[in-house]
Amino acid sequence: MKTFDVAVVGATGAVGGAMLEILAERKFPFGQVYALASERSAGKRVEFNGTQLKVEPLASFDFSKARIGLFSAGSRVSAEYAPKAAAAGCVVVDNTSQFRYQADIPLVVSEVNPQALAQYRNHGIVANPNCSTMQMLVALKPIHDAVGIERINVATYQSVSGAGARAIRELAEQTARLLNAQPLGKGGKFPKQIAFNVLPHIDEFQDNGYTREEMKMVWETRKILGDDAIGVNATAVRVPVFYGHSEALHIETREKITADRARALLRSAPGVEVLDERRAGGYPTAATEAAHRDAVFVGRIREDLSHPRGLDLWVVGDNIRKGAALNSIQVAELLVKSYL
Ligand code: A2P
Repeated sequence: MKTFDVAVVGATGAVGGAMLEILAERKFPFGQVYALASERSAGKRVEFNGTQLKVEPLASFDFSKARIGLFSAGSRVSAEYAPKAAAAGCVVVDNTSQFRYQADIPLVVSEVNPQALAQYRNHGIVANPNCSTMQMLVALKPIHDAVGIERINVATYQSVSGAGARAIRELAEQTARLLNAQPLGKGGKFPKQIAFNVLPHIDEFQDNGYTREEMKMVWETRKILGDDAIGVNATAVRVPVFYGHSEALHIETREKITADRARALLRSAPGVEVLDERRAGGYPTAATEAAHRDAVFVGRIREDLSHPRGLDLWVVGDNIRKGAALNSIQVAELLVKSYL
């Protein structure tokens, strides 16, 4: 069997760790796997496929040794190293926002727009969407194909793992301190207390009053669905959950769709699991269904009382897996299958 050497950039991080886990779990046809991170991690080891890999510094890595580069070390790192990797013949799947809005770089959700992948040849780079957009579009694609979506109103409830490994530790530490009647530590990743609290702020504020996380959902939805007419109105909120993002979606479709038809479409949609029973617990949640699982879960499907073509859904997914690492590897699988 043909194998492909893979470099994981950001291998000591929350997403990088999941990438290594998923490469092994899905039996990706890897040859040599390189774990890359900053100089700070020199000498560290990370788990991979029952063994340990020595972490190597990104700055001195020779990308001609790898055929595929899975990047998740922040936008600045991607800006500098992804073009260098691509020039050395290593196709980059980039999990940061660095290249997502560049028109000739494909932005791909494996179940939604795999056809866009062919454009990877333009720069040798494929962008992986933002986690909130990713799970939203896996759920909305079958509905958009059937009746067209005019407008999306979405409120997110996003877990701290989306902000990286330090943010996970910060929630744990703040929680322990507060439960032990100790004062909160000094500032960390979050601008206000995150334990036992909810913050209506993810990423930087923009001139229009939205945050960048909210605008990502606007820009990326249009690009992935190839439809600039779709209106997206998002409020992105950080909640004290470790893994799994939740979203309350309120959509307005071009033609009316009933809840029954939407449920049936979603039941046969790739990457989706429907859990929609009108009883206590008959819906998916981040901690009980989404975390550490591959599917995007949908529940609470109902017709909007206040709009003739409105539909409401509750969507949860593991932001580290489908929202980041898993989709990157699904994209790499498509590259290997059809292009490399
Ligand atoms: P390191 O652990 O050496 O800092 P997370 O998003 O979970 O915080 O993870 C970020 C990942 O990106 C980590 O693996 C981190 O490595 C890596 N990283 C951050 N800055 C750099 C850099 N300048 N060069 C290489 N890797 C980096």
